[in-house]
Amino acid sequence: MCTCREARWGWGPCATSPMLLLSLLLSTAPSGLQGEETRKVSLDVPDWLGSPQNLLHIQAVGTNSTLHYVWSTLGTPAVVLVATNTSHSVLSINWTRLLSPEPDGALMVLPKDSIQFSSALIFTRLLEFDSTSDAAAKPPGKPYPPYSLAEFSWNNITDSLHLDALSATFQGHPKDDPRGAFANGSLAFRVQAFAGSGRPAQPPRLLHTADTCQLEVALVGALPRGNRSLFGIEVATLQQDLGCPMIQEQHSIDDEYAPAVFQLDQLLWGSLPSGFAQWRPVAFSQEQAGRASSLSCQASPLHPTWAHSLPQSSVVQAFFGPQQNYCTFSLTFGTSTGPGYWDQHYLSWSMLLGVGPPPVDALSPLILVIMAVALGTPGLMLLGGGMVLLLRRKRSSEYQSIN
Ligand SMILES: *[C@@H]1O[C@H](CO)[C@@H](O)[C@H](O)[C@H]1NC(C)=O
Ligand SMILES: *[C@@H]1O[C@H](CO)[C@@H](O)[C@H](O)[C@H]1NC(C)=O
Ligand SMILES: *[C@@H]1O[C@H](CO)[C@@H](O)[C@H](O)[C@H]1NC(C)=O
Ligand SMILES: *[C@@H]1O[C@H](CO)[C@@H](O)[C@H](O)[C@H]1NC(C)=O
Ligand SMILES: *[C@@H]1O[C@H](CO)[C@@H](O)[C@H](O)[C@H]1NC(C)=O
Ligand SMILES: *[C@@H]1O[C@H](CO)[C@@H](O)[C@H](O)[C@H]1NC(C)=O
Repeated sequence: MCTCREARWGWGPCATSPMLLLSLLLSTAPSGLQGEETRKVSLDVPDWLGSPQNLLHIQAVGTNSTLHYVWSTLGTPAVVLVATNTSHSVLSINWTRLLSPEPDGALMVLPKDSIQFSSALIFTRLLEFDSTSDAAAKPPGKPYPPYSLAEFSWNNITDSLHLDALSATFQGHPKDDPRGAFANGSLAFRVQAFAGSGRPAQPPRLLHTADTCQLEVALVGALPRGNRSLFGIEVATLQQDLGCPMIQEQHSIDDEYAPAVFQLDQLLWGSLPSGFAQWRPVAFSQEQAGRASSLSCQASPLHPTWAHSLPQSSVVQAFFGPQQNYCTFSLTFGTSTGPGYWDQHYLSWSMLLGVGPPPVDALSPLILVIMAVALGTPGLMLLGGGMVLLLRRKRSSEYQSIN
């Protein structure tokens, strides 16, 4: 729709065209959410033979549905999301099978016929590019060998599990790190669940509901291989009947919650109600997230990928079986002209994952006030003119009826 790549960073004419304004006004009507307003959310790290494993089960129970999010770093980091139409569905794990080389069938949500939707996201590789090489080279630059996230060792998830805050963090570094790049660094996947709707305090302040989970990916303190390294992450999902899901771009004139970002990207699995992943195309190069530290985030289209060329996730194989077709895409953060990871050796990006229709941002109160003021004067004149006409007509009809 919008061909101005730069302009999505704000300030451009793209964000404020009248047609866009009109389409926004028409599309921001509140959508009847089929999900539930609030859920009873619990986090659990199931243990096996008395020792907790790196598997986090988030269960969100509503009046007549339950959502299960199974996050794990067994194999490569991944999440399996399952929606059921009963408040009584349960996750069943066969640990001997899950921890074996052939985990098929080790993970089930029961009863099976209550499952309405299931899919998965798999985080396969950390990408790094040399953005200084050859200005003519196509962005993001010359790739360095990627870090396979299946070759990472991960912290003990129980140490970062906050049952009250509904959050937990998987933190990892490469098992084999000859350069010592991760000697003081780590890659972290911070998972946050919600019992109701709202917005976090930190940009990009994505609107969340009880049907969603937030994931924040942070690369902190790792030594880059080049002076101006750009980082990225490769993500895989399961192919649907109709092939790979698409990434949609939505535009907005409203940047109150994510400064200067007028776009929302979302990946939809099949027709509604299904599942979605949603993010603002922005990352941050400082812990203090704000306009000054914001980086662009480019998503490639999804393309079919052979399973054997991808690092595998045990939970995904365990739930869906081995014979799956995958689609992958990559997200790259920043441009060679900076700001960048090199500023503070810090990079963070977040996304929302959920089932049902994705949350829709209504125009923020600030924008509504601005529009009311901008439209106010002509609007009042139009209204006034209409009233005068109406009164005149009424009067003349009164006269007629008297005659
Ligand atoms: C993780 O930490 C918990 C307590 O903090 C401990 O009981 C458990 O054995 C640890 N698990 C592993 C795999 O080290
Ligand atoms: C789910 O529960 C809500 C209210 O608790 C009810 O209005 C709705 O009809 C129920 N849906 C189904 C499919 O049972
Ligand atoms: C779990 O899996 C193992 C290995 O496949 C199998 O022998 C065992 O019977 C399973 N346990 C249950 C309770 O199904
Ligand atoms: C849940 O969905 C299944 C079909 O997917 C249906 O057979 C079952 O009746 C539904 N249960 C409820 C409680 O709506
Ligand atoms: C890691 O941090 C320590 C202390 O802050 C420092 O001495 C060391 O040089 C750092 N190592 C790397 C590889 O940056
Ligand atoms: C990185 O920058 C330093 C100093 O700015 C320079 O000496 C070095 O050659 C650069 N390295 C690369 C790989 O460009």
